[in-house]
Amino acid sequence: MTTDQNLPLKKILPLSSSTTIDGTLTIGDCSTRDLADKFGTPLYIYDAKTLRSQASEYIKAFNAKWPYGVEIHYASKAWINVPMAQFLAGEGLSFDVVSGGEMAVLRVAGVDVSHSAFHGNNKTADELREALENKFGQIVINSVDEIDLLDSISADLGIIPRVLLRISPSVDAHTHAATTTGLVDSKFGVAIENNEAYNACIKINEANHLDFRGIHMHLGSPIFGLEPYIAGVKVGAQLIKQLSDIGILISDFSPGGGFAVAYTDSDNPPAPSAYASAICETLAEQADLLSFPPPRLIIEPGRSLVARAGVALYSVGSRKEIPGIRTYVAVDGGMSDNIRPAIYGSKYEVMAAERPFDPAQETVTIAGKFCESGDVLARDVKLPILKRDELVAIPAAGAYQLAMESNYNLALKPAVIMVEDGKAYVIRRRETYDDLTSLDVTNQIGPLISSTESP
Ligand code: LLP
Repeated sequence: MTTDQNLPLKKILPLSSSTTIDGTLTIGDCSTRDLADKFGTPLYIYDAKTLRSQASEYIKAFNAKWPYGVEIHYASKAWINVPMAQFLAGEGLSFDVVSGGEMAVLRVAGVDVSHSAFHGNNKTADELREALENKFGQIVINSVDEIDLLDSISADLGIIPRVLLRISPSVDAHTHAATTTGLVDSKFGVAIENNEAYNACIKINEANHLDFRGIHMHLGSPIFGLEPYIAGVKVGAQLIKQLSDIGILISDFSPGGGFAVAYTDSDNPPAPSAYASAICETLAEQADLLSFPPPRLIIEPGRSLVARAGVALYSVGSRKEIPGIRTYVAVDGGMSDNIRPAIYGSKYEVMAAERPFDPAQETVTIAGKFCESGDVLARDVKLPILKRDELVAIPAAGAYQLAMESNYNLALKPAVIMVEDGKAYVIRRRETYDDLTSLDVTNQIGPLISSTESP
């Protein structure tokens, strides 16, 4: 293996990326060609080194700037499964979960959830019960009606959970409309307007079976600027001050997640330390100005912990040239494993994984294999002339791709591996045709099926 500093897209590829002597992209010292031969494509590859480095960067950056207690909760929705949960817990992370399903994965993984949080805008009574029974560290209440629901479930179970209120602070995160969450017209959080959030905090504080700990907000995702966090923290601080004036002291504060990552060479997101400085300095300044004790800080990065660690590897298939219009090159995955370009117009870079140094010869659109024209992974990217069966790699593939995958066209969900020091560890096997039919109940429909014999 070489450690080529000139490797194109190095900035967005996993930290351990390099090339073999013959120029094939390697991740964790594993040749992408060897990985494709062994595990097939599409293949999702997570680099353990990048995951470790991102986790420790967040832990260090926030602890260095906030001596009053910090918890880093990985937003599991970015992608989780049992081995990934075990790996990330081993790196010192707690979790943010939003469903009974995510809780179940953590339960099977056997990780400690006493510092993890249960979120969601429509938690069911069953899910709330599961969260209490599983001893989740916090429940983040999202709406006024959830206060009574949780209070009565807690009373039933004889448990007094620690509770935060998610507020909607009316701060524009300047991100995609589908992933903006902090504005007044949002299904998330109790509005700061008209003292709604303030009154909800009082209601939680007065509830008999809830231990009111603090406030939470999540402004959207990805947020490339620091200003939305600064504005959000200031709104939160005003509320903390209002509450402390009536004797309600807040011990926990969370500005959520949403920290951006580079998907393309031209993206320049702030470093974790820059987000940490903006958040911690504003909170410290506000605590001083408004005279409230600095609360514990809870941070919820999802994408920024896992996106760069992941690479999606595909094999090239058919090619369609439309003279003067566009050339489509299709790969063996697409919107079933990465729906983000189709629904958000997300941009990705593409690399010819077996010859990353070859000069670009043409502009092509990398299409998927699914029956929709919108199934495109990258539009108008410059690449060498790709041949059938060669490999292409899409970097920054670790977040919200597998998390939003589907079986559209009954595609088989790809295998997922983790790599380090020349070894590949399967963390999810590829789906099989048997898996596809495994939920089908075939012994009951008989009476409904018309006879195929002619009358
Ligand atoms: N905390 C809360 C309460 C959230 O709702 C989210 C994401 C996060 C933390 C983590 O945000 P992150 O650090 O990963 O940006 N499917 C979209 C992203 C939706 C994010 C939803 N909430 C995408 O593919 O971009």
